[in-house]
Amino acid sequence: MNEVINVIEKRCSVRKYSSTPITEEECRTLIEAGLRAPTATNKQEIHITAVSNSNPIQAEIQQDLNPNAANSFCYNAPVTFYLSAKEDFKWSAVDAGIAVENMHLAAASMGLGSVILGCMEQVLNGEKKAYYAEKLAFPEGYRYQIAIAAGYPETSKEPHQINFEKDVTIL
Ligand SMILES: Cc1cc2nc3c(=O)[nH]c(=O)nc-3n(C[C@H](O)[C@H](O)[C@H](O)COP(=O)(O)O)c2cc1C
Repeated sequence: MNEVINVIEKRCSVRKYSSTPITEEECRTLIEAGLRAPTATNKQEIHITAVSNSNPIQAEIQQDLNPNAANSFCYNAPVTFYLSAKEDFKWSAVDAGIAVENMHLAAASMGLGSVILGCMEQVLNGEKKAYYAEKLAFPEGYRYQIAIAAGYPETSKEPHQINFEKDVTIL
């Protein structure tokens, strides 16, 4: 099986990370994987903000999201990448989804774990939207779309089962 299909078949969401940091080069590779994703009309409107888990903004988001949660929203992964995109472009959410999946697959191919994070939507696009947009250095007119936390995995998991018969129609 070719390498890309192999990675697609084996990837899973990782929710437990070792304390081993990921290198700047690994971060750069993940970011580039996101930026290399296709975008509608080649708009290339995705912005990526990389935030280390030690940055106080992470604790602030946790506080606003759920201060009593058993797990941190990013599972204390060493880095979280926030993808923002143009608020008034109709394909922004789709483009961000494609970019984040590129990053998720790139991470898996490099032996890293990652998990896509949508749970901060209510915080980052809620009452304090402008505040967080500034803190996370989103470009003017951009809003949070999706995020992904990444690091070295401390657990492994079987990929989820697919149900071809139920989920596919071939006409
Ligand atoms: C748009 C989107 C948002 C997600 N948000 C979260 C999240 O906030 N927290 C989380 O732990 N997992 C999140 N996930 C991961 C899914 O829960 C996960 O992909 C799903 O349970 C299937 O598991 P698998 O990725 O291991 O196959 C998200 C996935 C997607 C595609």
